[in-house]
Amino acid sequence: MKITRLAGALGAEITDFDLKTVQTQKDAEILKKLLTEHSVIFFPEQRLNPEEHIALGRLFGNLEGHPNLTNAQKHPEIFELHASRGGIANEWHTDLTFQEFPAKMSILKMVKCPEYGGDTMFANLCTAYDALSDPMKNMCDGLTALHDAHPHNKPDQMAIHPVVRVHPKTGKKALYVNEHFTRRIVELEAEESLSLLTFLQKWVHKPQFTVRYRWKQNTIAFWDNSTTQHCVLGDFDTERIIQRVTISGDEPKPSIPLPRWESILHQQARGRQDGWAAMSGALARKDRQLFQHFRKNGKL
Ligand SMILES: [Fe+2]
Repeated sequence: MKITRLAGALGAEITDFDLKTVQTQKDAEILKKLLTEHSVIFFPEQRLNPEEHIALGRLFGNLEGHPNLTNAQKHPEIFELHASRGGIANEWHTDLTFQEFPAKMSILKMVKCPEYGGDTMFANLCTAYDALSDPMKNMCDGLTALHDAHPHNKPDQMAIHPVVRVHPKTGKKALYVNEHFTRRIVELEAEESLSLLTFLQKWVHKPQFTVRYRWKQNTIAFWDNSTTQHCVLGDFDTERIIQRVTISGDEPKPSIPLPRWESILHQQARGRQDGWAAMSGALARKDRQLFQHFRKNGKL
């Protein structure tokens, strides 16, 4: 096995290694260690068929299909995505953060890639957190954010997660907001939330926190969803096909005990005599989604 680091922040390419030899939990431990260390790892020139791809994924946990995007694959565990002109996964995101238990990791096979273009960029969310100033870290540690599946035309699928989550194994803190699925900081005024999210999302994508990978057919990539974001560059005009298996995750753990502050709606409601029902009628448009999420989950 030869390990070549690809950037300072994250990413390694692993050559002289056949993923077909990974058959047991013990074999998988080697890959788990590599993934924890590098956050995203690439294995060129692999020959796994869909059944072998699924079996490999199962060594890391339970698999889940994509909740909103259908595909023609006969294997429900495999999410297959075809594109020919960009326009796929081209906003920075962590996979499926609108779910209460967002996916732990993904294993992607590049089935067919354009001759040029269609690279994927990954960002290290722990490096991005560590580089913040202490006051900014302190504030972010105490915040939560609302995520939704609006990009899949399912805005009613929502979840609230800590803005800073802790990696279950390393204890490292990661900035857990992304431009694709994160809508709102729960404890802040809408304008404050917009400014902070805009800043954090831009911050995470600073070049020194990222790696850019140029694909070849039959490369397999593993990424850790709790510590990374990714984005496909839409600069291609020939066919690009990927197959992905997705490993189920747990509830993201905050970096400090939460709640530290009340939601902005609870802050606004404090001291009002007329209660939530009257408040809902006069609610600003920008606060309505948060209100709906709380009402659905009995948090009002
Ligand atoms: Fe993705």
